[in-house]
Amino acid sequence: MRIATLTSGGDCPGLNAVIRAVVRTAAGNGSTVVGFEDGWQGLLEDRRVQLYDDAFIDRILRRGGTILGTGRLHPDKFKAGIEQVKANLADAEIDALIPIGGEGTLKGAKFLHDNGVPVVGVPKTIDNDVNGTEYTFGFDTAVAVATDAIDRLHTTAESHDRVMIVEVMGRHVGWIALHAGMAGGAHDILIPEEPFDISEVCRKMERRFQLGEKYGIIVVAEGAVPKEGTMPQEKEEVDQFGHVKLQGMSHKIAKEIEARMEIDVRSTVLGHIQRGGTPTAFDRVLATRFGVNAAKAAMNEQFGTVTALQDGHIELIGFDEAVGELKRVPERRYATAKSMLG
Ligand code: F6P
Repeated sequence: MRIATLTSGGDCPGLNAVIRAVVRTAAGNGSTVVGFEDGWQGLLEDRRVQLYDDAFIDRILRRGGTILGTGRLHPDKFKAGIEQVKANLADAEIDALIPIGGEGTLKGAKFLHDNGVPVVGVPKTIDNDVNGTEYTFGFDTAVAVATDAIDRLHTTAESHDRVMIVEVMGRHVGWIALHAGMAGGAHDILIPEEPFDISEVCRKMERRFQLGEKYGIIVVAEGAVPKEGTMPQEKEEVDQFGHVKLQGMSHKIAKEIEARMEIDVRSTVLGHIQRGGTPTAFDRVLATRFGVNAAKAAMNEQFGTVTALQDGHIELIGFDEAVGELKRVPERRYATAKSMLG
């Protein structure tokens, strides 16, 4: 069998571990693998490279990013190119396609499947927001990076009697903020799932200062929003994909706290640092398990499926379970975190 793979959407630690696992599993079963460069764009433009089970592939396990490159393509452009995609796959004599990506990519994969392309999807995202899987690889690494940053901010915040706001990724969901905030002992955690009240945030900090703990750490997901009417809000702008352009919530919160209280506040945006670099052991293992099982599913012609971690096992789920709804932080998870704040 001839398998093709590609990585699409924002990169994340562990992508190379999946590619390695797909190539090695395929090779071990007499199949070959080609990679399309730069996500869907490379598939549309027929930019492909042969991948071999060699020393190079063996060594990419530890490497961050993706050796194939990645990118985002507007869904309309992708849909308009369906015949080109089919022609390119036929020309390359591809029997199965394994796209590795987040929600958007999996929606694209579902579209291909609905149009007769044999597809097995692999979910990835540091945001951990793909439905149907307990974790996506990349998330654990992002949480480890953010926790390390929070640990460091504790000591400088404490020395200067300051409130430090740490902005982490999480456009629609607050998983990174929740886990890194809990692991880092944050004093407040703000997530997109529950609009925050800035007066409440200030009250928590005030209480800490009154009790003699003269510093505070607030972890905020980039997509967190204030309750309506509680803070000045700017007009929303959207990018070419229809995504709201995020405008630095941590800075806005810092300004607001300084305006309301007599304390020194600083903000730090961790940004793409959370997505770069080498994957944690957990992410390497999860990515490898996804890759092995995706290659096996392709060779068994179990198309229209997505690999997922469920009850500790790797299962194959349908596209409808994986896309459509994002996996948000449930109220009771946030409630547990909140019981430790302040
Ligand atoms: O979806 C993953 C993610 O890292 C989000 O958390 C973040 O909002 C977005 O990608 C950033 O995308 P870009 O790399 O295009 O700035």
